[in-house]
Amino acid sequence: MSQIKHIWAREILDSRGIPTVEAACMLDNGGVSVSSVPAGTSTGSHEALELRDVDNPRYLGQGVLKAVENVNGILGRSLIGLDPTNQQTIDNKLIEVDATENKSKYGANAILAISEAVLKGGATAVNQPLYAWIYQLASRNKITSNVKIPTALFNMVNGGLHGAGNLDFQEFWVVPASNKSFAEGLQIGVEIYQTIGLNLSRRGAIHSVGHEGGYAPNLFTNADAFEVFIESIKQTNYSLGRDVFLGLDVASNSFYKDGEYVIKDKNAAMDDSQFLEYYKSLYDQYKLAIIEDPYQEDAWDSWKKMVSSMGDSLLVVGDDLLATNPKRVQKAISEKACNAAVIKPNQIGTVTETLNVIKMVKDAGWKIVVSHRSGETNDSFIADFSVGVAADYIKSGAPARGERVAKYNRLSSIELELSSIK
Ligand code: PGA
Ligand code: ZN
Repeated sequence: MSQIKHIWAREILDSRGIPTVEAACMLDNGGVSVSSVPAGTSTGSHEALELRDVDNPRYLGQGVLKAVENVNGILGRSLIGLDPTNQQTIDNKLIEVDATENKSKYGANAILAISEAVLKGGATAVNQPLYAWIYQLASRNKITSNVKIPTALFNMVNGGLHGAGNLDFQEFWVVPASNKSFAEGLQIGVEIYQTIGLNLSRRGAIHSVGHEGGYAPNLFTNADAFEVFIESIKQTNYSLGRDVFLGLDVASNSFYKDGEYVIKDKNAAMDDSQFLEYYKSLYDQYKLAIIEDPYQEDAWDSWKKMVSSMGDSLLVVGDDLLATNPKRVQKAISEKACNAAVIKPNQIGTVTETLNVIKMVKDAGWKIVVSHRSGETNDSFIADFSVGVAADYIKSGAPARGERVAKYNRLSSIELELSSIK
């Protein structure tokens, strides 16, 4: 049996230039595994707490020295001598030491960084690639009986809190058909991404990319982004509805106010049922296949209406609604409030709890979308994680920018490795 010898952390920067936690785990054989955690910009209010040094002016109050200190001190010390392959014991220990509902005492950023670093250490202890080790844990948990490379939801255009342009919706996706290999899907994604860039430039509409590498244009309406997509898809000779589909993360929390949604496509503010009519028109016009956070995070009734009226042909994905939280996921399952779930390990804070939520979601027959955050590092953890749990989809942004393509490149390499095993 391997043992954990030492755990420590440091403060590094994420892709937005904001501090985050990187933790390292040394085993008794001297091997070291490292993991860093991402952070959201449009975070939901039901997520586990990300500990920041708000009272310390360095990094404008966004430092994570307290979280680092917690890893170096009480959290790390509590795991010394334990077996890194016993992930559940490790995570239970971290939960027990923190002893708060939302990891607010020592920080979900500190706790998850350790949980992932130990998981990577466990993979080396059993001499397996990370995705295979995660698969072993997932299959023991009856989450899946096979590994699977997910389909990417390529985030081509960034708006809302992620984009410097004027769009209300946060993410506009092009999704390769799920019968494509990952390599085929990646090529399709890149060709369409670059063609969209050329078309937006020709219109004088782009001046930058957003947090996740998608273009951040100024357009007249949100739907105009889809018009540019359709034009670009035609130019690349792919076919909408056969080779590719369209999707959205509306991230509607960010523009919901006083019971209404205001978007540039409409002159007047919309209430929830008017917004549903608008979504139906988007669905009819653009063959919308998948939509995330169409309503704000506590509008349970509106979510339910959407699923009952559109859920047969549309994937309705909960992100801020669910916050990878077992209680919220349970409620959503019993109320039929969505039919797919975003899974973000840092919304809940340990690997084991994330696996447990995935189990609930899969048992309900829903689709799984494993997701990065807008503030990422070059850690490709979620790529291996998505394969090990056999996720249906992965969100890792546009097929551009280092921290986004780190995950896509890792998936390509896993696909090659798996094809050579077969
Ligand atoms: P966030 O956005 O990482 O800024 O929360 C991602 C998402 O909403 O899916
Ligand atoms: Zn989202």
